[in-house]
Amino acid sequence: MSLQGKHIVLGISGSIAAYKSAIITRLLVKKGAEVQIVITPAGKEFITPVTLSALSGKPVVSEFFASGDGTWHSHVDIGLWADLMIIAPATAATIGKMAGGIADNMLVTTYLSIKAPVFVAPAMDLDMYKHVSTQRNIEILRRDGVHIIEPTEGELASHLEGKGRMEEPENIVAMIEQFFATGKSLDKKKILITAAPTYERIDPVRFIGNFSSGKMGFALAEACAVRGAEVTLVTGPSALSVSHTGVTRIDVESANQMYEAAMRIFPQMDAAILAAAVADYRPEHQWDEKIKRKDDENLTIRLTPNPDIAAALGNNKNDRQIMVGFALETNNEVQNALNKMDKKNLDFIVLNSLQDEGAGFGHDTNKITILSKNGQTKTFGLKTKTEVAEDIIETTLSGFFAKKTTF
Ligand code: C5P
Repeated sequence: MSLQGKHIVLGISGSIAAYKSAIITRLLVKKGAEVQIVITPAGKEFITPVTLSALSGKPVVSEFFASGDGTWHSHVDIGLWADLMIIAPATAATIGKMAGGIADNMLVTTYLSIKAPVFVAPAMDLDMYKHVSTQRNIEILRRDGVHIIEPTEGELASHLEGKGRMEEPENIVAMIEQFFATGKSLDKKKILITAAPTYERIDPVRFIGNFSSGKMGFALAEACAVRGAEVTLVTGPSALSVSHTGVTRIDVESANQMYEAAMRIFPQMDAAILAAAVADYRPEHQWDEKIKRKDDENLTIRLTPNPDIAAALGNNKNDRQIMVGFALETNNEVQNALNKMDKKNLDFIVLNSLQDEGAGFGHDTNKITILSKNGQTKTFGLKTKTEVAEDIIETTLSGFFAKKTTF
C-alpha cells in the first residue's frame, strides 16, 4: 500500500509521546505522503520544529503569524489542502479543546477548518485517560465523526502501568493506509441496517423486550457511512445517536413496524445488514388499559410469532443484493448459524460468541466468526464493536462490491 501524493496534516500536542511523531512523519513521507505539521506551543517543549521540518521537508506551523515577517499561516488553506488530519499525540487538553471547539491555538483552529477525515491518537497518564471528563470528550469526538485510535496498555512516562500509551507509529500509519485503501469502497452504495431490540406492547405501559443496546448496528451504520455508503438505519428503541450525515435514521418500536419499514426500503438497496435483536413473539392481544394485579389469579399472555424480517427480505432478494445476518447461539453454534444462513437466504452470517467474556449484548466489545454461503469461515479476536464493524464490512460488503467473492 502507498500514500503517494496524499496530503496529511499531522497535529502534535504536548505529550512525551511527541517523540514518536518524528517516526510517524518519517513513515508517512517514506510512503509518498506530503506532511504538514501543526504543533501546539506545549508540543514544542517535547520535540523541536527543527527536527520535524527536516523530516517533513516543510516549515512547521505553530503560531498564527510568523514572528519574523508577520506572514499569516492560514488554517483555512491547510484545512482545504488536507486529505486527512491525524493528531498524534493528542493530550487530554487538546482532546477537550477539540470537543468544545476552543480554537485558541493553531492546531485546534486547523481542526475546525478541516473538511477531511480526522484521526486522534490519545496519549496520557492512565488516570487522566480514565477520567470521566476525558472519556466524555472522546465520546463527543467520536459522535462528531472523528476516528479514535485507542491507546494501548503498558508502562507510561510516569512509570505507572495502564491504558494511555499512544499506539505505535507503525500501527498508526498502517491504519491511515488502510483507511485510504478502503475509505470509499462503499461509495454511494445504499445499505439498509436494522439495529437494537424491538418492544412488543402488552398494555399501554408494559412490553416484552430484550437487552440489546443497538451498539453493533449503530457502529455498522457509522462505518458504512464513513466508507461513502448511503445508509438507512431502521432501529428499535435505543439510547444511542448517530452523527454521520450519511445515515438516515428511521425509528420503530415493534417487529411489525421494523418489518414494514425494511420491506418498503429493501427494493432500492444494494445490501442489508440485519443486526436487530427482533422479538420472536408478541402478545397475541394488546390490552387497551393497564392490566390490574390480581393476587389470586395467574396471568397468562398468549404469544404469537412475529414476522422473520431477514427471511422475508431473503425471499425478495435479487442477484445483485447482498444480505448479512447475525446469529447468537448457545449450542451447536456453527451448524445452527449455517442453517440460519440457508433458511434466510443470507450471503454471510456473523456468529456472535457467547462463550467469551465481554462479547455480545450490551458490551462494548464483541468476538465474531463470519461464515459465507460458499463455505468459508473467518474468526476474529475480541475487539471493540467499532473494530468489529470494520471487520464485518471489510469481509462482506467491501469484498463483494469489489467483485471479490472470497476472503
Ligand atoms: O433470531 P435469529 O437467531 O433467527 O436471528 C438471526 C438473524 O435474523 C439476525 O440477523 C436477526 O437480525 C434476523 N431476524 C430478523 N427478524 C426476526 C428474527 C431475526 O430479521 N424476526
